[in-house]
Amino acid sequence: MSSISPKRRIVLCMGEFCNMDRRAAKLLPRLEAMLDELNQQNEGNPEKPFLKLETARCLSMCGAGPNCVIYPEDIVTNGLNEAKLVRMVDEHLRK
Ligand code: FES
Repeated sequence: MSSISPKRRIVLCMGEFCNMDRRAAKLLPRLEAMLDELNQQNEGNPEKPFLKLETARCLSMCGAGPNCVIYPEDIVTNGLNEAKLVRMVDEHLRK
């Protein structure tokens, strides 16, 4: 019998507005590195769900972008830049 491990999805929008001037594309490797680091730290801890990075083509809030949503909690972060990205990870994923 296998059990499905809990998972949180971190969805970064790479849509036309959010990625204007490649601003979301510049954040993607940083986010990926932070999630990889956290997943390594949390490996084997049943209380720490796996953090799965995904990208979206639009999250329907273009004017507030760049945008990222953490599921299943629906935690929305708008106007992402590098500092906000780090704060989002620290406040919502690292704890
Ligand atoms: S392009 Fe990112 S929310 Fe629409």
